[in-house]
Amino acid sequence: MTVARPCPIRQACRREVVRGGLFSQRMRNSALFFVFSIAASGCAASGSSGAGNSFSLPEGDPEAGKVVFVESQCSFCHAVDGVDGLPAPVAEPPIPFALGGSSKRMSDGQLVRAIVDPSHFMSDAYPEAATQVGGESRMPAYRNTLTVQQLIDLVAFLQDAS
Ligand code: HEC
Repeated sequence: MTVARPCPIRQACRREVVRGGLFSQRMRNSALFFVFSIAASGCAASGSSGAGNSFSLPEGDPEAGKVVFVESQCSFCHAVDGVDGLPAPVAEPPIPFALGGSSKRMSDGQLVRAIVDPSHFMSDAYPEAATQVGGESRMPAYRNTLTVQQLIDLVAFLQDAS
């Protein structure tokens, strides 16, 4: 369980979570709690039931999301199909796919999951050497760097390109 990770003793952590101690101290008023809830949804969406596919974020601003995309250096690795004016990717080896495009349509939950926890689900459609290092995604996890509003706008931008 993700919230239990910072605690060295798992049992003690569980007790904290049950009592609401750790949870409320660290997570109350925290955007992270929101993100974790969404991320859980993304996880369900990648399963066979597809239940998480009905999840959608509040409406975001795709133009603002494009700015977040560039400022967060997503374009270091990713091109986006059908979107001009982005810096060209420079990652070596190159990422073997572009984001966006109707054939690769992802739900909001799947996109959020891909952004906050890239190693959770990695497609096996691409050579591992181009997407993974030591079993982990080459993509950094953005869970501590984006505000919830930035995440919403980023997803709106990627959905707009799909
Ligand atoms: C250092 C390179 C790198 C950077 C920077 C990076 N990514 Fe990625 N990204 C990857 C790799 C590699 C994958 C494929 C493995 C995986 O799913 O994590 C990927 C996968 C994805 C996927 C899932 C695509 C699919 O078809 O499954 C999305 C969505 C995505 N990235 C969005 C972003 C966004 C948005 C940013 C910026 C906030 C970003 N990435 C920054 C390397 C990067």
